Amino acid sequence: MKSNDEKVAIVGVGHSKFGKRLDVSINELGWEAIKPALQDAGVTQKDVDFYSLGNFGYWSEEILPAVTIGEYAGLSCGSLKTEAACASGSASLKIAVDSILSGNSEIAIAMGIEKMYNSPNGTIIELIGRAGNYFWEFENFGMTFPGYYALYATKYLDAYHSREEDLCEAAVKAHHYGSLNPYAQFQKETSVEECMKSKYVSRPLKLMDSSPITDGAAAVVLARGDVAKKLSDTPVFVEAQGYASGTAYMGRRDDYTGLEASRRAAEAAYRKAGLDGAANNFDIFEVHDCFTIAEVMAYEDLGLVKKGEGIQLLREHQTYRDGKYPANLDGGLKSKGHPIGATGISQAVEITKQLRGEAEKGRQADIRKGRGLQHNVGGTGHYAYVTIYSRGD
Ligand code: COA
Repeated sequence: MKSNDEKVAIVGVGHSKFGKRLDVSINELGWEAIKPALQDAGVTQKDVDFYSLGNFGYWSEEILPAVTIGEYAGLSCGSLKTEAACASGSASLKIAVDSILSGNSEIAIAMGIEKMYNSPNGTIIELIGRAGNYFWEFENFGMTFPGYYALYATKYLDAYHSREEDLCEAAVKAHHYGSLNPYAQFQKETSVEECMKSKYVSRPLKLMDSSPITDGAAAVVLARGDVAKKLSDTPVFVEAQGYASGTAYMGRRDDYTGLEASRRAAEAAYRKAGLDGAANNFDIFEVHDCFTIAEVMAYEDLGLVKKGEGIQLLREHQTYRDGKYPANLDGGLKSKGHPIGATGISQAVEITKQLRGEAEKGRQADIRKGRGLQHNVGGTGHYAYVTIYSRGD
């Protein structure tokens, strides 16, 4: 086992307001996250050895955002852009952590950004689907992402005798916590009734089952453990990351009630961290709820409960702040918003704030074990990252 000095820790976090951000350029949006992260870490641009940026970007005004944002932010260190669809942020974290673990840097920034509203909605929705241009289902049927997840929702609801109302419970929870998060895109509560009345996007999924289109950025400053303890009284260590990929041809999958890549990524993360699974080891969870069904499948893929029991966690409110497994107390992708490349880093920011006890009123979890778990999926399980964080005490 590594000592804390040999690990990598988050020592600074920054987060932009999520939403429709036509008021800023992509460079300005990036700075909204980088500036507070540097201030929080107590470092300046010249201290940073490496900078990575998660970004999908096909709808964006800038195809080399790592270069232009880095320059705008005064970062002259080496940089690169990572792309792993909706898990691009976690890929950015991985590269920055690895740059420190390999000895190539001492202090690094991992960031994520997306400016989706640069294109009209219809174009964006088509471009998300076209992420899989050579995905069999896209090529032949023009499948959209809500369509992919609707296949899973249909199968899950049928297999486990669940109802659309049950899925809406995830939206109600998300909007409750989103209403308490000043950075969230939607800061208003909803109800099962309102969710049920919203328009179908891809049956059985409705508008209120879906994450929105979002502009946003998030950044974390990372440091080698021995440096981190000089910079911060409350470093949050990146204990382990598990990752896996899934087939681009859905017809090759043998299970439509969960994501195999998530399960493999979770197993790898638990093994690397020396933990026996998720159920007894974490105070706080961030799970990839791009659609309500995705949150239910995440509970099961991470091993919180057995297959078919995830829906029960929602029905019993066990993933609210005071439940057994507090999840997405920032509003999740559903209410906080889902700026594709920024989401993985936004989740890391949230877990850091939670472990430091700095989340806003009404959404701070009770931290006893000192550990948090992040689950970030790209596509429909085409990529999956599971990251484990701890206070190191
Ligand atoms: N939840 C709640 N309200 C939403 C919403 C959401 N996800 N998306 C949009 N709205 C609201 C808007 O604020 C707007 O409200 P207003 O009329 O009061 O201003 C209204 O609904 C219409 O918004 P609009 O953006 O025009 O909706 P749309 O029909 O063009 O797009 C979706 C809605 C759900 C189809 C689109 O956001 C989508 O495709 N989301 C999924 C994105 C995705 O696939 N991401 C990758 C996941 S892996």
